[in-house]
This record gives sequence, C-alpha cells and structure tokens, in this order.
Amino acid sequence: MSPKQVPVSSVDLLTEIAPDVERLYNRHLEAPRLWFPHEQIDWGQGESFNERPWTESDYPLSAGVRSSIYVNLLTEDNLPYYTTALSERSPKGHPIREWNNQWTMEENRHAMVMRDWVHVSRCIDPTLLEEGRRVQMRKGEVPQPQSFAEMITYVSLQERATQIAHRNTGAKLPKDDKIGRNVLGLIAGDETKHYLFYRDLALAGFAIDPSTMMIAAAKQVSAFAMPGTGIPAFTRHAVRISREGIYGLAQYLKDVLAPVLGLWDLEHLEGLNPEAEKARLNVDTVVAKITETVERMAQKAAGAAPAVL
Ligand SMILES: [Fe+2]
Ligand SMILES: [Fe+2]
Repeated sequence: MSPKQVPVSSVDLLTEIAPDVERLYNRHLEAPRLWFPHEQIDWGQGESFNERPWTESDYPLSAGVRSSIYVNLLTEDNLPYYTTALSERSPKGHPIREWNNQWTMEENRHAMVMRDWVHVSRCIDPTLLEEGRRVQMRKGEVPQPQSFAEMITYVSLQERATQIAHRNTGAKLPKDDKIGRNVLGLIAGDETKHYLFYRDLALAGFAIDPSTMMIAAAKQVSAFAMPGTGIPAFTRHAVRISREGIYGLAQYLKDVLAPVLGLWDLEHLEGLNPEAEKARLNVDTVVAKITETVERMAQKAAGAAPAVL
C-alpha cells in the first residue's frame, strides 16, 4: 500500500501525531545503547567448518531452543522488508521517517551479532540457517498493516513479542554460555526500547483519534502472529518454540496483550464512534477466547504430566 492510499482519518492522525513522534524519538536518543557486535564474541573459540563440519553434539540443545534461535535470527535477517513496509507508511518530511532510519540502524546489528555467536558457538546448523535465509529473503514476506494506525498498533505488539522471545531463549541457554546469554540479552534490551517507543506512540494516537486507533487495535490484536511465515517449516518450528515455553499463545496473552492493552487502557477510552465501540467488544471477545484456550492447554498439559508424589 502506498502512502497515497492511506485512509483520510489516518492522514489526520499522521499529521497530528508528529510532535509525539519527535518527543518519543528524543526520549529514545537520550538513553543510547552503544554496544558493539564485535566486542561480544570470543573469536578465539571459532573453528573452521571446512575442517570440522557442524554436528548436533557441538552444542547440545533441545529442539525447541534450537528452533527459537533459528527463527529469531531469520526474522532479524528479514529486516530490509520491514524497513520497506514501514517506509511505505511514513511520508517524506514526517519525523517517523527519521525514527525509521534509527530503528533500522539498531535492528541491523541484531542479525550480525546473533550470526557471529551462532557460528562461533556452533549452536545451530550453519547450512540449514543459510538455506533458510535464502528461501525466506527471496520471498520478502512481512506483515502489511493497512494504515498508519494499524502499523503502530501492530509494531507495538511485535516489538514486545520479539523482546519476550529473545529473553526467554536466552534464559534457556546453558548457564556456561555467557556469551550467548549476553548477546540475546543485548538484543532483548534493544527490543524493549523499540517496544516503549511504539507502545507510547500508539497511546498518543489513542488520545488523538480514539476510534481509528481502536478499530486498528482490534484488527491487530485478533490477527497478530509472530513474523516468520516465509521461513521454511515455520509452523513446525513455532510449535516447538511454544512447547518449550519460549513463545506461544500463553506468552502472547500474559506477556504481550496484558501489559500492552493494560497501558492503552482501552476499557476507559471515551469518544468512540459505533464502529469503534464494536471493535472494543471484539478485543474483549478475542482476549476471552485466548484466555479460555490457554487455560484448556494448561489443564491438558497438567493432565498429561506424570503425578508427582
Ligand atoms: Fe531485532
Ligand atoms: Fe526491535
């Protein structure tokens, strides 16, 4: 969708939200995170893959954690398409463009440092990783929010989800892989700041145009999925990652929806048009359904677990 096709109400939102973009961008710059990817790696640990090809026993890990590293790194690799999608919804001369450049600069180092760590530590198969990268990047598949309002609500959820996924993956690494834990912690820290920018920008959006934002939020909350559909065997990896307790519906409910929707305080939003009122009810219905599913899954898992005496 080109900026020319943005609905009229979103164009107004874009104009009126410009001072908030500047305010939040300045807040972001006041606490710079100037870590260097090359300083995080113990290069002396590296070994030639030509002389000693990769095997699973190089770095014993459960399938779920391995899948998570693979999917999270490939998602970071897909950055050019995210930048494009955001740029297409960011008109020239608007401060969101400058933010987009800063965001891209920060995101770019995530794939770099993760790949360096992955290759030196041998935690995942480098051939599988490169094959996955080729397939995914050739497709250029990323979510396409239909308006600026949808974009900022979607990215709020996505940055939070990404932060949780990196954080929980790092916590599942062996205790002695201090480098891996540090690398994923640094990335999760960046994602936290991105999340705070978008979350608070969306909050400002709710104050400017509550109805447009509510309709956008309802759509994104119900349709949200972790990015990565262009990754080979994505569903299989997503199931493993969820079973491992790293990221799935339970985390989406507890760690993404609860804090994000809580802060936006949708319940007390005033001045909604009838369509937006309907959208608010839809959010409640979606959250109730997810809660029910997560509870059912937890009961099933508890039932399947052996009795502890
Ligand atoms: Fe990232
Ligand atoms: Fe991010």
